[in-house]
Amino acid sequence: MSKATPAERLNERNKMSESQDEPWTVLRLLDWTTDFFKRKGSESPRLDAEVLLSHARECERIELYTAFAEEPDGEQRVAFREMVRRRGEGMPVAQLVGYREFYSSRFRVNEATLIPRPETEHLVVEALDCAKQFSVDRPLQVIDVGTGSGAIAISVVQNFDSVEMTAVDVSEAALKIAEWNAQKHEVADRIQFVQSDLLSEVEKPERFDIICSNPPYVSEAEYRELSPTVRDFEPRGALVSGPEGTEVIARLLEQAPDRLHAGGRLIIELSPMIADACQAMALADPAFGDLRFIKDLDGHRRILSLQRTDHSR
Ligand SMILES: C[S@@+](CC[C@H](N)C(=O)[O-])C[C@H]1O[C@@H](n2cnc3c(N)ncnc32)[C@H](O)[C@@H]1O
Repeated sequence: MSKATPAERLNERNKMSESQDEPWTVLRLLDWTTDFFKRKGSESPRLDAEVLLSHARECERIELYTAFAEEPDGEQRVAFREMVRRRGEGMPVAQLVGYREFYSSRFRVNEATLIPRPETEHLVVEALDCAKQFSVDRPLQVIDVGTGSGAIAISVVQNFDSVEMTAVDVSEAALKIAEWNAQKHEVADRIQFVQSDLLSEVEKPERFDIICSNPPYVSEAEYRELSPTVRDFEPRGALVSGPEGTEVIARLLEQAPDRLHAGGRLIIELSPMIADACQAMALADPAFGDLRFIKDLDGHRRILSLQRTDHSR
């Protein structure tokens, strides 16, 4: 008899899972839930199932792999079933468990904050790379505009000692979460939190070495096409910029030169769809030079990085 292939073994395992009498082990719960989330259109059904089950069991996800044969107790099953139901209705996993991992740290999120995305880690890398290139004998002044959960500001502070960070958001509710995260990561004393429309309410410092921002950049038409998991659960104000998607970035490009030291950098996340338009806006301003794009893992232009080269402003 030939040895079963991995696919045959998987098939067999699935058939076994269908057995009525079989106990609801960790493995069986994961298989059933993965299949359910797949049918519901999740892009990462297995990962979703594992994150929710490890949350219900109050264990690390990796610990599930050595517990496949165990049967979660009644309380864990009830908690898991409720989260699976709500996930099936579209609620993001990060909101169900209350956090998302970003740049190797855990950030609390809720309905007031955008869930940090992996592509934003490219912005943090660019900010840290730029920070290392400054040769000043004082702490660098950095600002994160539209801080949301504080993911960018906190990650930069955690990974660069000599920095004084300002984190702003127009949303008071988001700022509260950002402050909570800063306290959790023990960096609250290095971050000034300001409620502000972009840079308008930020009085001090007058100028920064680095301005970074992941601003709203979705157009109204794109917003209507977003998956309900995003549109119905994440804050509209964190996503939508206006009819074109470029409006908030245009305002930031306008404000930034007067708030950057000569040689300072402006680093903005954007969507590849508006990369050309944003490049044209930036190049039209003689205050900016050394323009470069950083691509995301799909090869799309995702981060725009500019230098303030004009010494006259
Ligand atoms: C795309 S989210 C980014 C959140 C977070 N920085 C991240 O990368 O996960 C944009 C954030 O900008 C904030 N925001 C929107 N318009 C703003 C404005 N005019 N001034 C300041 N913050 C703004 C939103 O409240 C939201 O928290």
